Amino acid sequence: WTILTMSLLQNETASGFLGCMRDVWLDSRIVVPGLGLRSPAKQLNVKQGCSDWDRCKENPCQNRGRCVKTGWRSFSCECHRPYEGEHCLDEYVAARFGSEDLESYAVFTVEDDPGDSNTVSMFVRTRRSQGLLLVLSNTTSQYLRVWLEDGKVKVQINNFESLLGSETVSDGHFHLITVLVEPESLSLFMSAKSQGRIPIRSVLVQAGDAVYVGGLPDRRASLAFGGYFKGCIQDLRINSRRLQFYPVSVPASSYRLQSLMKVTRGCTGDDSCTNNPCLHGGVCYSMWDDFTCSCPPNTAGQRCEEVRWCELSPCPSSAVCQAHTQGFECLVNVSLRSDSHIITYRGNGKIQRYLGSISMHFRTRQQNATLLHAERDSQFITISIHDGHVVLELQGEKRTSYVYIHSLDLVNDGQWHKADFSMDSPVLQSSRWRIVVDERWEKPSVSFTASGDLDFLREDADIILGGLGPDSEGNFAGCLGLVEIGGLALPHYSEVEMNQPRPQEERFLRTSGTPDFGCWGCNVCEPDPCQNEGVCEDLFDLFKCHCPSDWDGQRCEFTLDDCASNPCVHGACRAISSGYECSCDAGYTGRRCETEVDVCARHKCSNGGTCLRGLKHYSCLCPRSTTGPFCRYPKFPVSFCGNERWNYSCFNGGNCSSVEHNCDCLPGFTGQW
Ligand SMILES: *[C@@H]1O[C@H](CO)[C@@H](O)[C@H](O)[C@H]1NC(C)=O
Ligand SMILES: *[C@@H]1O[C@H](CO)[C@@H](O)[C@H](O)[C@H]1NC(C)=O
Ligand SMILES: *[C@@H]1O[C@H](CO)[C@@H](O)[C@H](O)[C@H]1NC(C)=O
Ligand SMILES: *[C@@H]1O[C@H](CO)[C@@H](O)[C@H](O)[C@H]1NC(C)=O
Ligand SMILES: *[C@@H]1O[C@H](CO)[C@@H](O)[C@H](O)[C@H]1NC(C)=O
Ligand SMILES: *[C@@H]1O[C@H](CO)[C@@H](O)[C@H](O)[C@H]1NC(C)=O
Repeated sequence: WTILTMSLLQNETASGFLGCMRDVWLDSRIVVPGLGLRSPAKQLNVKQGCSDWDRCKENPCQNRGRCVKTGWRSFSCECHRPYEGEHCLDEYVAARFGSEDLESYAVFTVEDDPGDSNTVSMFVRTRRSQGLLLVLSNTTSQYLRVWLEDGKVKVQINNFESLLGSETVSDGHFHLITVLVEPESLSLFMSAKSQGRIPIRSVLVQAGDAVYVGGLPDRRASLAFGGYFKGCIQDLRINSRRLQFYPVSVPASSYRLQSLMKVTRGCTGDDSCTNNPCLHGGVCYSMWDDFTCSCPPNTAGQRCEEVRWCELSPCPSSAVCQAHTQGFECLVNVSLRSDSHIITYRGNGKIQRYLGSISMHFRTRQQNATLLHAERDSQFITISIHDGHVVLELQGEKRTSYVYIHSLDLVNDGQWHKADFSMDSPVLQSSRWRIVVDERWEKPSVSFTASGDLDFLREDADIILGGLGPDSEGNFAGCLGLVEIGGLALPHYSEVEMNQPRPQEERFLRTSGTPDFGCWGCNVCEPDPCQNEGVCEDLFDLFKCHCPSDWDGQRCEFTLDDCASNPCVHGACRAISSGYECSCDAGYTGRRCETEVDVCARHKCSNGGTCLRGLKHYSCLCPRSTTGPFCRYPKFPVSFCGNERWNYSCFNGGNCSSVEHNCDCLPGFTGQW
């Protein structure tokens, strides 16, 4: 409350007094409150009393500013940066750097002596992961640098101590970045969150020092710190002093702006859609310094660059579409049955990738057959089944050895199997090869010798599935699924059989042969092989007769009666026309399986292998030149040069010996080849 003694002047245009008065005397008479009946005063919009009125309840502060009551019916706003003014309505004008990729920067001059304890702070908005934000420099050195590295803020003092923030700034949103330089430490904050703190030698900011923002006048010096900044900077301050790019109405003390190079007012982004970056008919929508593509169906990716090929139904109905990054494959199982059923493939001449592996899905009951064969000049590969094991034979480039490996597992049980053939060390020019069956990667069969890769299959080589060639023997009978060489499929469909050609650059093409699509076995139940009302079950190229009781035998041709007395001591009884037959448990023999056997008595260790007795089984100790469960496979010496099917060149007139399979050298020459 204040006591005023005053004279009044009439002023019709002045706005009315807002507040309370009491004990107002005019001459010697009280006029206010003067509410009595005989009061001489005329009153308009005057109320009795003097209640306070919280102005803050009207939420006068905008932009999340905090309202503080400062006395009777008055308030002030504590504004959040970058807002200022009585109601926090004034915003510092943002400066746009690098608009349309121009090289832009601003320079200010420090006009006082802030000393060795300083806070540099600013709002930064960008989508670039690098760029120079700010440099403080005196006549001799650039003693403080702030720039972006991998989307994070990096601060460097005296060309030496530096601190990298932990959070990413380059997300297209505004971030408040604060660098706190104290005499012995440097700290970095994003909003209020600390990004790190390091010890430093102190730096002194003095009047006359220059503040470069967004880049340096020297282009090469800028490039050393990520190049010119592209984005916006707003409300830049050193301590409480502003560095205003564009003045606002609010009076604030700002350092002097020395120059403004190609900086623009506001913070509009570039139109990234001008050269439509969206592929495959995608529609571009501009975002701040960025774009999004609204992609047509069947495409994806930031630029709609990925086509979801399979959604275009490119495969015949019997096939399953498999998408790749560059295209698609139509997967189908095929049946190969007769000699005419070999299929051949060739590379399309554009295969660049390294071919160091083959993978095959197959199903068969054959004991011996050729699955895949290809040759070019002196190089060849054959994948086959020998005695029920899958076998790889390979002769790569001349200076590499012949490779022979067989799987340990049997694969001719009529089930699907997958065999993977690959180089042990694909980086080497020559390496051992390995076979893995049914993805049991921990149990590979590895070759003794080393050979080269399969790059000779890229072009000008016929790759044959199902046999060695047109008039050869030992053709494959069974089903084949996906076959891949170096990850590229051998497509069972030709390009014209598909609804759409495959778009991938690197392709194998089917060049001859028409497979039967789908996997069919032979019709083993027709005519019905089971007698006496046995029911035939088709087990893929193998039948099984389910016999009525009292009947037995592969075709239900025998009665069971003779077995009623359990005549087989250690074995299973089977009725035959002449009585019964015992199939003995391992380790027993005799007509009624009554005698124990010497497991080595009729061993099958071949090639001079020694039989080792076990409890019920035996194993073979193979001579050094053979391997396999029964020593049936040759373990080729390193200098192997040929077999019945293949001869390999010996150099300098040497002959490949038909007995030893080694090179016989002419006098004066030596070595493996
Ligand atoms: C009346 O008030 C107006 C505005 O407040 C002012 O410009 C003017 O000079 C005043 N007149 C007198 C007579 O004081
Ligand atoms: C420039 O700043 C550095 C670091 O604060 C200081 O060592 C140097 O003496 C200053 N040079 C001048 C000319 O002020
Ligand atoms: C091929 O056969 C396998 C095994 O039966 C099956 O899982 C796969 O779906 C078949 N592939 C196609 C394309 O029909
Ligand atoms: C498969 O080949 C082996 C050896 O080459 C031979 O002993 C066996 O009888 C053959 N099997 C068939 C069914 O031809
Ligand atoms: C390879 O050479 C040997 C020895 O000269 C010969 O007996 C054999 O028939 C040859 N094999 C082929 C496939 O030419
Ligand atoms: C290779 O075979 C030819 C013809 O049989 C013979 O003349 C020549 O001496 C043989 N070379 C060697 C090194 O045995």
